[in-house]
Amino acid sequence: MSGKIEFVDLKTQYVALKPRIAERMQRVLDHGQYIMGPEVKELEDRLAAYTGARHCITVASGTEALLISLMALDLKPGDEVITTPFTFAATAEMIVLLGGRPVFVDIEPDTCNIDASLIEAAVTPRTRAIMPVSLYGQCADMDEINAIAARHGLAVIEDAAQSFGATYKGRRSCNLSTFGCTSFFPSKPLGCYGDGGAIFTSDDALAQACREIRVHGQSGRYNHTRVGVGGRMDTLQCAIVLAKLERFEWEVQQRKAIGARYDALLDAARISRVQVRPDRDSVFAQYTVFVDERAAVQARLQAQGIPTAVHYPKPAHHQAAYAAYASPDACPRSIHAAQRVLSLPMSADLSESQQDRVAQALLA
Ligand SMILES: Cc1ncc(COP(=O)(O)O)c(C=O)c1O
Repeated sequence: MSGKIEFVDLKTQYVALKPRIAERMQRVLDHGQYIMGPEVKELEDRLAAYTGARHCITVASGTEALLISLMALDLKPGDEVITTPFTFAATAEMIVLLGGRPVFVDIEPDTCNIDASLIEAAVTPRTRAIMPVSLYGQCADMDEINAIAARHGLAVIEDAAQSFGATYKGRRSCNLSTFGCTSFFPSKPLGCYGDGGAIFTSDDALAQACREIRVHGQSGRYNHTRVGVGGRMDTLQCAIVLAKLERFEWEVQQRKAIGARYDALLDAARISRVQVRPDRDSVFAQYTVFVDERAAVQARLQAQGIPTAVHYPKPAHHQAAYAAYASPDACPRSIHAAQRVLSLPMSADLSESQQDRVAQALLA
């Protein structure tokens, strides 16, 4: 079998959901409340119930979710936030934007998540928060991280942009710490058709702060009690996520099954891959392997109609914008991973024959 495989197959998903999406969008067009319409609260209620968190606050993007969470904690210039350098730029970016200092702690080589055993040594009197990233769809060691935070009076923000729907010891990602922040970027496990995101918390005061910050710090109409941002998620995007929720649990199960099938195919071929810990699962926002000679492997797959991607080619401290926050040789495991990771096509609609093609092409 030949033909191009989609890296993320959003088209098949759209065809399956087309009537529901059209109906949901039409309803918004009919009532006309494009900003903070009824779908916003409906989605927040549905997502809070799904995760088990007391509050869900939808926001303009995953990036905005991180920013508003840090603002709700009142992060001050010079405050330190412990995080991983092996992530998308937004994680460190929002800390720096507020004048904070990202303190980079290295990853576990097999999961690529922050190594919780290295965190406590990085705590200083300026530390305010720990921001683990649930990379590729799998949560970090949240219990260990929460225990360190509790010992030092710190907040924990889970950057769950890639892990909505994942579980950790039976609990859902986004409901594991002070804040959980997710993204509805179209290719994420739960995506909209533009930008969107959400903050989850069970702290009433922090939830209220986030709601105010989202609308320019208003505690009432034109009553600006704090500095905020224009950070709302559009009603139309909320409506699209509501439509996608109808199929989401099936998609999560599909992703897990496809991930397990990739595991079996690649283990049989002795191809090294990101590991998932037995006490948690992954929603495989990315299915990622480790390869040497990555450029050659990518070119070979591309020639066979198989797209791949690199998440991420450089750790944050090797990016010009964040180089000041660590020495170049800090976090050697992150540096090594950045040279070897390769993400394969992954979505709930990836067929078994497509997976076989990917595995065979990797082996060749
Ligand atoms: C780990 C991580 N953090 C933050 C973000 C930012 O999310 P968004 O693109 O919705 O702003 C992303 C999304 O790409 C991400 O993967």
